[in-house]
Amino acid sequence: MSRNRVPAGSDEEPNTTPDKPARRRFLQSAAAATAVGVAPHVRAQSQPDVVTPPAQPRAPEPPRPVTLNINGRPYTLQLEPRVTLLDALREYAGLMGTKKGCDRGQCGACTVLIEGRRVNSCLTLAVMHEGETITTVEGLASSGALSPIQRAFIEHDAFQCGYCTPGQLCSATALLNEFQSGTASTVTADVRTRPPQLSDDEIRERMSGNICRCGAYANIVAAVRTVHGGDSGNA
Ligand code: FES
Ligand code: FES
Repeated sequence: MSRNRVPAGSDEEPNTTPDKPARRRFLQSAAAATAVGVAPHVRAQSQPDVVTPPAQPRAPEPPRPVTLNINGRPYTLQLEPRVTLLDALREYAGLMGTKKGCDRGQCGACTVLIEGRRVNSCLTLAVMHEGETITTVEGLASSGALSPIQRAFIEHDAFQCGYCTPGQLCSATALLNEFQSGTASTVTADVRTRPPQLSDDEIRERMSGNICRCGAYANIVAAVRTVHGGDSGNA
C-alpha cells in the first residue's frame, strides 16, 4: 500500500500531492526573505535623492596695503592675503634677486632674512610680516661693497649657474651669525658647549636646506669656512 493512501472509510482527504504544502511554505519563506533583502534597496530607490548644492567658491579677499621694510627701505604693497612673501618680493616689489625654485620649501632658493633669521619666503605669507625687517640678496652689500660672504663666493667660485646663489648667500650670512651667537646644530657634539670653530660638517649641516643643482657644494663650504676662519664674526 502506498504510504499516502487514505484507509477506506476514513474522513481524511487523500493527500495526493503530499510535498506541495512543504514546497509552498519553502517558496513563501524564500520570497519573504528575498523581500526583506531587497527592501532597503527598494526603499532607497523610492526616496527622493538628496542633492547637496555645490559649495560656493569664496570670493578672494581684496588687496590691502602691507608695509614691509625691505633692505632698509619701506615698501607699501597692495597685496591679497594669500600672496607669499616670495611673490611679494618678486612680483610686487620688483626685487627679482630672490629666486623661486620649488615654491614648496624644498630647495632653499627663496631664502631671505626676516629680522635676521633665514626663512623660505615661499612658505610664508607677506601679510604676516607687516612692519618686519627683511633682507634679500640685494641688501647684503652695503655702500656698494660686497659683503664678506659675497666676496668669498666669488673667490672660491662657489656657484655655476647661480640660480641657488641668492639663497645660499642669505643662508650663509645667517649661519655665521647663528654660530656666533651660540646656536647649536644637529651635528654639534655637545649642545652645552659651542665648538670653537665651524667644522666642515657643521657648515654642511647648517647649509643643508639649500640645494645646489650644479653641485657647487665643496666650494660653498670653502667660502663659508674662509669667512668664518677670517673670524670676522659677521658675514
Ligand atoms: S622656492 Fe622656496 S624652498 Fe624652493
Ligand atoms: S650654482 Fe647652479 S644651482 Fe647652484
